[in-house]
Amino acid sequence: MTADQHSGLTSHLTPESSQASDLHRALLRMRLIDADETPALWPLAGGVSSNILRADTRGGALCIKQALPELKVATHWSAPLERNHAEVAWMKLAAEILPDAVPVILGEDGSSHSFAMQWLDPEHHPVWKAQLRDGVAMPAFAAQVAHQLVTIHAATANQPALAQQFAYDQNFFALRLDPYFAATAKKHPDCAAVLEKLIAQTANIKRALVHGDISPKNILAGPKGPILLDAECAWYGDPAFDAAFCLCHLLTKCLWRPLSWNNYLSCFDAFVENYLKGVNWEPAAAIEARICKLLAAILLARVDGKSPLEYLTSQEDQDHLRQFARHWLLQPATQLVQISAAWKKDATL
Ligand SMILES: Nc1ncnc2c1ncn2[C@@H]1O[C@H](COP(=O)(O)OP(=O)(O)OP(=O)(O)O)[C@@H](O)[C@H]1O
Ligand SMILES: [Mg+2]
Repeated sequence: MTADQHSGLTSHLTPESSQASDLHRALLRMRLIDADETPALWPLAGGVSSNILRADTRGGALCIKQALPELKVATHWSAPLERNHAEVAWMKLAAEILPDAVPVILGEDGSSHSFAMQWLDPEHHPVWKAQLRDGVAMPAFAAQVAHQLVTIHAATANQPALAQQFAYDQNFFALRLDPYFAATAKKHPDCAAVLEKLIAQTANIKRALVHGDISPKNILAGPKGPILLDAECAWYGDPAFDAAFCLCHLLTKCLWRPLSWNNYLSCFDAFVENYLKGVNWEPAAAIEARICKLLAAILLARVDGKSPLEYLTSQEDQDHLRQFARHWLLQPATQLVQISAAWKKDATL
């Protein structure tokens, strides 16, 4: 094994391993390598639901992603492998709307549940989460993310053909509604009725193409702006989910790095303003109310659901978030500013 000087990756897969030969065959079927070529495959850090690697081919580096039947989390959590295809389909559609906002798809291999995409060199494409961790929290960047998201939602809203193409209800249930909301309901019996109702309501809304995982760890800060990755949870449904999911991360980052609390809240405000400004398929007030409710539920799920935030380690932070989320779940806000103002007040306690 050799060390890769450029990206800090330390070991590539042994070519004889079953994973390497599986991916090698996939690259051949996608016609991305020559018959006599054995590219080095470098696993990337961070994949929870997939194997994700850099392949150094004769034609240059590319990124290959293969769905895993079981997610690498502590609690049992399985998800349909067709989510790999859902991701490719989302990426291709998003590229038609905003070509610079997604990596170029280079090929798809259904039999190995994998696809290949353009390699985005980490030196010029840092992960937004890492920037936020380091206190680099720029409202203008959050505004760009919101703008991209609402542009995709607006371009795909009320389109029955897309609703049919992305009818990944089972995926979305397995990856989001069940592990986040149903699992949380089991730990909070007094919130169970509200959460069950939210699951039913959300599952029934078919309004636009949802990404499903708008998290800072899935967003790269590229030279031309944000690049959205990891669309495995793509689903034609309630776009409020995407906004709420991202806003949850901006609030919880305050607990991770309390010194930047106000900067994260400025990002939150910039996101809200730019997202709501672009809503043209329904009254902005209607979606804002749904975002408020989903945000409260997602916040609670990030403590007590199947995918707790890894940086929320202290009992004090967990209790703080739990109490805050339960309050807004049981007494829903209709405006996001109510939630951010309350969170801001918490900073000064
Ligand atoms: N096209 C790409 N070029 C370079 N790096 C990439 C590319 N796509 C993804 N990555 C890197 O790999 C990481 C994981 O990618 P992705 O989120 O798609 O995989 P995942 O298995 O679904 O991860 P997780 O379950 O942890 O969200 C990203 O955070 C990014 O650092
Ligand atoms: Mg990811």
